[in-house]
Amino acid sequence: MFHCPAKTNFKESKMSILYTPAKLGSLTLQNHLVMSPMTRNRAIGNIPNALMAEYYGQRATAGLIITEGVSPSPNGLGYPRIPGIFSQEQVAGWKPIADAVHAKGAKIFMQFMHCGRIAHPLNLPAGARVLGPSAVAAEGDMYTDAEGMKKNATPQAMSEADIQAAIKEYAQGAKNAIAAGFDGVELHGANGYLLEQFIRPNSNQRTDRYGGSIENRARFVLEVADAAIAAIGKDRVGIRLSPYGVFNDMPLYDAMEADYTYLAQQLNARGLVYVHLVDHSPMGAPKVPDSIKQMFRNTFKRTLILSGGYDAARAEQDLAANKCDLIAVGKPFLANPDLVARWKAGAAVNAPDFNTFYTSGPKGYTDYPTLG
Ligand SMILES: Cc1cc2nc3c(=O)[nH]c(=O)nc-3n(C[C@H](O)[C@H](O)[C@H](O)COP(=O)(O)O)c2cc1C
Repeated sequence: MFHCPAKTNFKESKMSILYTPAKLGSLTLQNHLVMSPMTRNRAIGNIPNALMAEYYGQRATAGLIITEGVSPSPNGLGYPRIPGIFSQEQVAGWKPIADAVHAKGAKIFMQFMHCGRIAHPLNLPAGARVLGPSAVAAEGDMYTDAEGMKKNATPQAMSEADIQAAIKEYAQGAKNAIAAGFDGVELHGANGYLLEQFIRPNSNQRTDRYGGSIENRARFVLEVADAAIAAIGKDRVGIRLSPYGVFNDMPLYDAMEADYTYLAQQLNARGLVYVHLVDHSPMGAPKVPDSIKQMFRNTFKRTLILSGGYDAARAEQDLAANKCDLIAVGKPFLANPDLVARWKAGAAVNAPDFNTFYTSGPKGYTDYPTLG
């Protein structure tokens, strides 16, 4: 009788796209799996540290790691213990992290998260300000180490000078990230932070050239993208967007699809290396229509990353169906430093411990077990 398990394995491995190398601009990634950006609040004093190097190094069998949100400005540090990339001490703190990741073969992009109005002054360093496109506070609470839960602050509406200063901060941050050994940066244009606050009409009620029409509401995001590209080159600048996302008081509105179509066209014209789309519907958020993902696929000609609720089977499916080029995974990577090996082997995975997502120290951070 002819018995060929080896042949079956060969067939399966030939069919897998996920674990084969991938291209991202001029980079080659060791596989198609991206670790999603995840804020973990372990950066005491807003400075990256050795514990963070251990955490990222543990997960560097991914193709690409996108870091937690990192503020390019003192004004953008809305949450407690999130890292920055505006001081030399921070650049020095990031270097061992890039090295630890590269040593295991992954590439690493730094996510630039300016929190804007998702902030409380108690979380900001002395002299920093809570800023937003308009003086409209976001519904919701913000945790502070000093006094526990507080309402999100009402931001100061950014002046033209504030806007120009912020654009310069993004550009300088991009140079700093490259100086720290990073492969690129991801502009956080999703989830209700500063860039999305400019895009959405509820948080942007300006009447100058940064508010009103979508051409005006997109202007800040596109000027930030242009400045980052001028600083470090388009192969090193990606962007994360959340069309139909409602997180952080970003209600749905009628022109959503048209607005994001304009953004897709403009980002394509600039040739950023990737667009990374968020879909939090597996976490109970409103559905992100397939039509908008397909619109990005058709309009944006470089790399498209999809994220949200992926397991290995769904990742393979969407890659095989050419819905995107790379798959980003959050919570499974958080809880499984050896996620790639586990998925490849079809092994069981650790469940994430929600209680330690944002606490300080190694518990629930660097102590998730590996297969051994
Ligand atoms: C603890 C935690 C922190 C997160 N922080 C960020 C962040 O800093 N920036 C961001 O763009 N998304 C952030 N996210 C969202 C994730 O990147 C991802 O989109 C989400 O977890 C859904 O993907 P998943 O189903 O694979 O976990 C965070 C998610 C979690 C669980």
